[in-house]
Order: sequence, then C-alpha cells, then structure tokens
Amino acid sequence: MRAALVRWYDRNKRDLPWRKTRDPYAIWVSETMLQQTQVATVLPYYRRFMEAFPSVEALDRAPLDTVRSVWSGLGYYRRAANLKQAARLLMSRHGGRLPADYQALLRLPGIGRYTAGAVMSIAFGRPCAAPDGNVRRVYARLLGLRDPKQIDAAAEQMVSRSRPGDFNQAVMELGATVCLPAAPLCERCPLIHWCRARASGAFDVPRRQPARTKAVEWPLVLVESRSRILLHRRPEGGLLAGLWELPRPETLPTGIFDETLRRSEPVTVIRHAITDMRITAPVYVLRRKVSVKGAAWRWVSFDDLSAHPLSSLSTKAVRVAERHLSVAKRSRRAPTQLIREAR
Ligand code: ADE
Repeated sequence: MRAALVRWYDRNKRDLPWRKTRDPYAIWVSETMLQQTQVATVLPYYRRFMEAFPSVEALDRAPLDTVRSVWSGLGYYRRAANLKQAARLLMSRHGGRLPADYQALLRLPGIGRYTAGAVMSIAFGRPCAAPDGNVRRVYARLLGLRDPKQIDAAAEQMVSRSRPGDFNQAVMELGATVCLPAAPLCERCPLIHWCRARASGAFDVPRRQPARTKAVEWPLVLVESRSRILLHRRPEGGLLAGLWELPRPETLPTGIFDETLRRSEPVTVIRHAITDMRITAPVYVLRRKVSVKGAAWRWVSFDDLSAHPLSSLSTKAVRVAERHLSVAKRSRRAPTQLIREAR
C-alpha cells in the first residue's frame, strides 16, 4: 500500500517550489504558510519570502515590519511574528540551523506537531507523521477510523521508513486532490482496493466544527490631506498585530468622525473575512488635516505605502477608494500599482 501510494505521488505530484529543496529552513517556511492557507495562495508569497529572506540569518536580521510587509495579504499574521521569533532562537541556540530534533522543533514558537512532523520527515528524512486535516481525513476513510486519537496513532504507524517525506506529502497530496471532503474522486485513487470507506460507503468523517463566524461592522476613514493619507498602527498583540490600517471612527480624535460624516454615504463598502469574522467595512473619505500625536499615527504618501505593512482590509479599502482621492490622480504611478508592489 505504501509503495502504491508513493508510486502514485511520483507520477502525479504537483510541481511545487518547496518540493525542489531539502533546505530545512525553506521547508519550515513553506509548511508554516501552508498551515492555514491553500497552495495556490501560498505560491507567490513563498517565492517572495524566500527571495527576501533566503536563510534563518537573513530572516533574523530583517526588521519585523519588513517581514510583515512581505507577509501582508496572506493572513494569520501571528505566523510571521512567530517565524521572526523562532529565527532569533535558532540563531542564539542552534547556530542558525533548524535542529533535526522533533522535541526541539516543538519548542519553537509557531511549530506544532504538524509542522514539526513535516520538517522532520521532509527535510530530515525521519519517520514522523504530519497529520493535518487532509491527512486525517485520508486515514479516517482508508482505515475506517473515527476516533481522533486512533487516527493520529495510525498516522504514526503508517509513515514509510524509507521515504517518509515523500510518503507524508503523498498522503497530503491525495487528501488535497483526490480524497476530497465532499466528493472524493475514488476512481483516481491508488488506494481504492484497500479503502474501508469505499467498501462500506462510510465516507463521512468527523470534521472539526468550522468556527462560527460573526458578522462585524468595521467602518474605515480615509483621511487625506496634502497628498498624504493618514494611517494608524494596530497595537502589538491581538488581531492584525502591528499592521497599519485606515483609522476607524473610534480611533480618530473625538469630534472628527462627526454626525455629518456618519450620515454621509460611504464611498464604498468592502467585504472581507478575517479568521472567524465576516467584515462589512463602509469607507468614508475625509479631506482635511487632522491633528494626531504619537508613533501609532503617520501621514503617508502613496510612494511610502510600501514601507507600511497594511492589513488586507485596508489595502482593499485604499484600492477601491483611490478613485475618490485627489492624491491618486496626481501620483506618477497608479496607486493600485504601488499597493501591489507594497504587498
Ligand atoms: N500542505 C501542507 N504541506 C504541504 C506540502 N508539503 N505540499 C502540498 N501541500 C501541503
């Protein structure tokens, strides 16, 4: 069964950049990006990240803001801060290399059992399981298991000793492309003859309850004065930590977002999702100087936007609201272009 699976993988695997390297750093970065994000979304971010920070040392040297800028748009920003912190620890404790040690990997911020197992098997060729959601579904169906503990134990037992990295990626690949959650493509499956679900028809596997989403109203104010827009920096810790965004009415000094503005038509309404929130963001434009104090505020020209990691929500808002800005019309390059470069 293992041989059939790895043979199928050799013939059918997608050509992905992190499959062309054994560099543990590159594999760690890719698996971190892939934790909560689909392959197609990860690809351009992975390339840019590896170009900007090709090694643990480069990542450690880079300012957190630069790392956030490159990450900006990928979501779950805690991952970027964790990579930075882990890079620091790798420099101070492990000579700038990822240790080939499951327990030591687990002690690094942002590395859980899944990522530790993926790095151990793919980069170091050790027989560790890497049970993510796809992998658990494959084993649950294949072996007719429902108890999560049994599924994880099976994943440990199943790992190939000879090619653990390819084997794990084969299971991931099968889950991502064939053993699909709703409508599995069994006729393409190399394990069809062994599959319990196929024999019994019991394809439904226990799924983690998707997080209940909340509808959130998140108004934004595009304040423009003398060809600059006003940005506010979110506090460290918490949602979108340290990212810049368009100010919200309640973060502006009192009296600025007055009744007149509140009752005016927003220039656009953005819809956006962050973790468990479905956000509706009306965007208001205010053309006047506003007096703000402190390091969390900055007036930024379009040419300087790239130096400020913006939340995706604010990126969308600026992009859509640019039509309503006088700066945009005067700028040499189209703002969307600048924002794209910034991301
Ligand atoms: N998802 C998680 N890890 C992956 C990998 N190495 N290749 C493809 N998809 C993945």
